[in-house]
Amino acid sequence: MKVLVVGGGGREHTIIWKLAQSSLKPELFAAPGNGGISQLATCVDIKATDVEGVVRFAKENQIDLTVVAPDDPLMLGMVDRLEEEGLKAFGPRQNAAIIEGSKVFSKDLMKKYGIPTAAYEVFDDSEKAISYLETVSYPTVVKAEGLALGKGVIIAADFAEAKAAVEDIMCDKVFGDAGSRVVIEEFLTGQEVSVLAFTDGKSLCPMVSAQDHKRAYDNDEGLNTGGMGTFSPSRLYTEAIHAECMEKIFMPTMAAMNKEGRTFKGVLYFGLIMTKNGVKVIEYNARFGDPETQVVLPRLKTDLLEIFLAVAEDRLDEVDICWADNAAVCVVMASGGYPKAYEKGLPISGIDAAEQDEAISVFHAGTVKQGEEFLTAGGRVLGVTAVGENLDGAIKKAYEAVGKIHFDKMHYRRDIGIKKEII
Ligand code: AMP
Ligand code: GLY
Repeated sequence: MKVLVVGGGGREHTIIWKLAQSSLKPELFAAPGNGGISQLATCVDIKATDVEGVVRFAKENQIDLTVVAPDDPLMLGMVDRLEEEGLKAFGPRQNAAIIEGSKVFSKDLMKKYGIPTAAYEVFDDSEKAISYLETVSYPTVVKAEGLALGKGVIIAADFAEAKAAVEDIMCDKVFGDAGSRVVIEEFLTGQEVSVLAFTDGKSLCPMVSAQDHKRAYDNDEGLNTGGMGTFSPSRLYTEAIHAECMEKIFMPTMAAMNKEGRTFKGVLYFGLIMTKNGVKVIEYNARFGDPETQVVLPRLKTDLLEIFLAVAEDRLDEVDICWADNAAVCVVMASGGYPKAYEKGLPISGIDAAEQDEAISVFHAGTVKQGEEFLTAGGRVLGVTAVGENLDGAIKKAYEAVGKIHFDKMHYRRDIGIKKEII
């Protein structure tokens, strides 16, 4: 069986690493892949957003399943195009990926179906948005409607900041068309937990919970990043909270998408916040999270390829999905300067030494392979994941492994896995 994974980051490396363990012994391809992925799959030089390029490659090479991992190709309708050509794909169609692609759509969906989320208003006129900002309490949250590389959410401390955010988004169009409309919403306090779920639109199977660390520096200081590390499970995500989420959030979301004629098939990511008034949805993503995947999939006991095929064939109910009762921690090793400017092409040493311990997997986010050597090729370079019996054990092992790896100007957080309890 031939399987193509679209994408080239740490998430895709983790997916491919798990698929490589499948009893179906797939022949693996990645578009475009990266240095680490090239050890397990044939990397083809096609951009993840090149819809027609991917469709052509899948057709010409008789790919049996294409897994579309990143958000942009999903939003561009890559799954629809593959299916139109009679090819099997894993991921939501364009009309369902909108749950991530438009914050106005997802907020309106939650309001219509009574799914708990922050109170909000939508504006397509900047003057009206600014008048409204005079009436709200602060901090408040201003969001560009569309995809903005994770930067379209501004937590504004006061009116001046909120007004500047609206002007940047709507008048100066700093996020392009993603900023035609803004959502202004109530600021919620609480810890954030991510729960990803496999769904074929008929059944929904949540994965184990995870938490991420978004800020660049220890103690949640510095700029927001794509994620500096993750851990699973979340200490806050109890059985009782899980039951509440199943009843009030997960199943109602699947049902709502069906009712809207937008059946969601793939991985639905619930970004949750634990507030004093119960769990609420902060955001949905239409795909595996990065770097959540790096701590969730190592805990999966079931064959991932069997799950992907079952979702693509609408028979997820036939698969019994099992998880290990352990913990995983992923420490991201980033280039100095990230998330601002950073250097590329620096040699990396110590990956083999780190992986000597069978509890360790080093997932590549931004590397290229040159001969036998790996060079840095992105802001986030590696995600060093350790699995342990519990979180404390996994944290210790992850940092032991990080200590063996080196590249010039590397930067990582020292507090991954530790979160201050704020509720
Ligand atoms: P999003 O792109 O919607 O995931 O938002 C990015 C981050 O902004 C979230 O992970 C939260 O940390 C924060 N955020 C978004 N909406 C809110 C809100 N209503 N209240 C507090 N924090 C928020
Ligand atoms: N880690 C958050 C995301 O993948 O969007």
